[in-house]
Amino acid sequence: MIAILSKKGGVGKTLLSMGLAQSLTDSGKKTVVIDHDPEGSAIGWSFNAQENGRSLPYSVLAPVDVVAAAAAEFVVVDTPPNDIATLQQVATRADYIVIPVLPGSGEVDRLQETVKAIAAVQEKLKAGVHVGFVLNRMEHNNLAAAMPEVLESLNYPVVAQVARSVEYQRAFGGVIPAHLTEPFTNILKEMEIL
Ligand SMILES: Nc1ncnc2c1ncn2[C@@H]1O[C@H](COP(=O)(O)OP(=O)(O)O)[C@@H](O)[C@H]1O
Ligand SMILES: [Mg+2]
Repeated sequence: MIAILSKKGGVGKTLLSMGLAQSLTDSGKKTVVIDHDPEGSAIGWSFNAQENGRSLPYSVLAPVDVVAAAAAEFVVVDTPPNDIATLQQVATRADYIVIPVLPGSGEVDRLQETVKAIAAVQEKLKAGVHVGFVLNRMEHNNLAAAMPEVLESLNYPVVAQVARSVEYQRAFGGVIPAHLTEPFTNILKEMEIL
C-alpha cells in the first residue's frame, strides 16, 4: 500500500495518487486508488473521466470499497488535508509513504507538522516502511527554494521532482499525457516499489 500524505492541501496529493496509479497500471500491475478525502477529488477526477467517455485504466474507490481493493496488487491511498487522525491511520498501514512538498520556506515549516504526525506513530509504522519526499511544482530556478538540505535534516530522502506544468492541471479528469509520467515512474524506481 502506497500512502500519499501531507497535512497541507494543494500540494499535489491527488495528482501524485493518480500519477502513481497510472504508472503502476502501465507496468502491468493491477492498481486501485482509494480516495480518503471527503472532498473526493480523486473520485471527482475518475467521475469526470467517465463523463468524458475516457475511463481511466484503474479504479478509484471510496474507503468502504474494501472487497474491490483486496483484489488489487497495489493500493494507492489519497488523503485529505488537515486531518491528522486519518493521516496517522493511513501511515500505519502503508508499505510506502510519499510526501509531496512545494518549494518555499513557509512550505518547509508546514511540512514539519506532517513529519511530526508521522513521527508520533513511529512505533506503529510497518517494519521496513519506505518514506520519501517528492518536490512538486518545480521550476528550473526553484530548487534552492525547496531547500534540499532542510529536507534532508527531516530524515527522509527526496525521491523525485515533478515540474510545474499547466498540463498536469489539465489532466484532471483524464489520463496524464505519457511525456509527463516520468516523475511518477521515478518515484516507483527510487522507492523500490517496482
Ligand atoms: N506539478 C504541477 N503543475 C501544475 N499544477 C499542479 C501541479 N501539481 C498540482 N497542481 C495543481 O494544483 C492543485 C492542487 O493539486 P492537488 O493534487 O489537488 O493537491 P492536493 O490533493 O494535495 O490538495 C490542482 O489544481 C492541481 O492541478
Ligand atoms: Mg487532494
